[in-house]
Amino acid sequence: MMHGHDDSRWCNPSDNESFDSILARAMSRRQVLKAGLGASLAAMFGAPLAGCASGSSGGFEQASPKFAPLPVSIADTVTVPAGYRASVLYSWGDPVSTGPAFAQDASNTAAEQLLQSGMHHDGMHYFPLPVGSENSVNGLVAVNHEYTDDGLLHVGGMVPWTAEKVAKSQAAHGVSVIEVQLAGGAWSVKRPSSFARRITASTAMGVTGPAAGSDRLRTAADDTGRAVLGTVNNCAHGVTPWGTFLTCEENFNGYFAKAAGITGEESRYGLSASGFGYRWHEFDERFDAAKHPNEFNRFGWVVEIDPYDPSSKPVKRTALGRFKHESAAVTLAPDNTVVAYLGDDERFEYIYKFVSAGKFNPGNRAANFGLLDAGTLYVAKFNADGTGRWLPLVHGQGGLTAAAGFASQADVLVLARKAADTVGATKMDRPEWIAIHPDTREVYCTLTNNSQRGTGTRPAADAANPRAANVYGHIIRWREAGADAKATAFAWDIFVQAGDPAQADAAKKGNIKGDAFGSPDGLWFDPSGILWIQTDVSTSVLGTGDYANLGNNQMLAADPVTGEVRRFLTGPKGCEVTGVITTPDRKTMFVGIQHPGETSSERSDPANPRAISSWPDGPAGGRPRAGIVVVQKLDGGTIGS
Ligand code: FEO
Ligand code: CA
Ligand code: CA
Repeated sequence: MMHGHDDSRWCNPSDNESFDSILARAMSRRQVLKAGLGASLAAMFGAPLAGCASGSSGGFEQASPKFAPLPVSIADTVTVPAGYRASVLYSWGDPVSTGPAFAQDASNTAAEQLLQSGMHHDGMHYFPLPVGSENSVNGLVAVNHEYTDDGLLHVGGMVPWTAEKVAKSQAAHGVSVIEVQLAGGAWSVKRPSSFARRITASTAMGVTGPAAGSDRLRTAADDTGRAVLGTVNNCAHGVTPWGTFLTCEENFNGYFAKAAGITGEESRYGLSASGFGYRWHEFDERFDAAKHPNEFNRFGWVVEIDPYDPSSKPVKRTALGRFKHESAAVTLAPDNTVVAYLGDDERFEYIYKFVSAGKFNPGNRAANFGLLDAGTLYVAKFNADGTGRWLPLVHGQGGLTAAAGFASQADVLVLARKAADTVGATKMDRPEWIAIHPDTREVYCTLTNNSQRGTGTRPAADAANPRAANVYGHIIRWREAGADAKATAFAWDIFVQAGDPAQADAAKKGNIKGDAFGSPDGLWFDPSGILWIQTDVSTSVLGTGDYANLGNNQMLAADPVTGEVRRFLTGPKGCEVTGVITTPDRKTMFVGIQHPGETSSERSDPANPRAISSWPDGPAGGRPRAGIVVVQKLDGGTIGS
């Protein structure tokens, strides 16, 4: 989700010093390496990062994508390279299973919306059927529905505003689990399916981990602090080795309103007088933070869902901390400790990781369901010399004491941002998705942009966030000490600075080897080692200013060894491209198209819903619809081959 505004909702207002900025100015990363510290890093960590190596780093089955790259596009369609085709699978309003068909005039009721695809698809995963198999022709797709455009969602948009429209908006949030199948060369949603379900902003879910049951999570409706209704702003995602889906609650603050008396802790998480204009609190008072202040603490978590059990209750895992979760990239340490990398997408916020206390048991799926409830949450500090540390967020350590406002570990987790401020973590340029290389285990993270870096009294550029007024963003990567994901030390460098070589300002040109792009957001390594990059340049449709040459949002393929980047897919007008996964055989790729037709204002004009885009239904349709696109190679080969 990225609206066009450049306001304070995206800014960490804490004042802990942006780290080592003076040293960063004095000694660039390149100078550090020339000075020989690269060699000492190699000695410390066993091998240099791929980008620091003089030649190949080896180990890739097939890292270099092979296709003719696309030019930029401003067309209202999805474009893929020669030899590929793209088809629409599952759009907003499509029935999940036996539900009603989409009404092009948006007249579906709230009850009908509960049986249909939500809006604004984001992170997703393909789960083969049955669990544990590599079935590439029949499986489940779990996909997030991040938010709603209530100008498109309702007849008449938000006028008049009613309880029924609030219920429909809540029903269009959350997650879909659908069953998909390949037959005769074409993918379709299987209907009916016993697996199909919708999870919404009203679905009953549990709360576990150290903050569950704490005073901060108890409300008038739930004196246990362990039973929450719903999930919202489900942005990127994660997948566990035991086959569950992690959905991440990002801009949850936008749904709450508090007319007056906002506390410092509430302000740190962006609570405001009217939120982002969803207006749920007018008919559902649990979103009125003046009446129910602790409801605000029950969002901003990672939620685990078992897609294989449609009767299972989703669970909010508090051990992973409360912030504006973008993604939860899970990997295993060599000893089967579970590690989840977590980004907090707001300007000057942090990168975290969770390290489990227990170990993954590959022989007993059910035994793994509590692994995300006990462990240590860390936050990243990037040193200017190319090293870094994971700083533990543990009550009683690093100043996280009662005197500092943390009476317990529950407080540390509910107020994870404040805890990270306290231990002195590095303020980043909006961490979005995190991807882990399948062979080297190097970890890559998109830092989508931060136009406020170095402006006014805000933190200056530093080694890990090297550009002031960073409008195009960059991708950082790190390698854990000993290639062990649970290590507390790492080496890092910057994989690429995005930009447009045609810009006059040298700082805006970036250093991409290949096709230009801006605002990297979605990020995923396929099993062959190709790095897929998706973009969210919200104003691309306008074709002006910094983004004039970048066209509609897009997806690119990068070779992590050479750094070469090729444009693979372009989206329709006003969209964001977000969400990508292949089947295990890599012959099918699912790609998410979010908010086609998005305007520069917060919500579309209900009187003119097709002002910018009519994708995917074209002239016969009523309004643009987010959806999942299936990409296949015409010769039946693997994607990128
Ligand atoms: Fe929902 Fe930060 O993207
Ligand atoms: Ca974004
Ligand atoms: Ca995103």
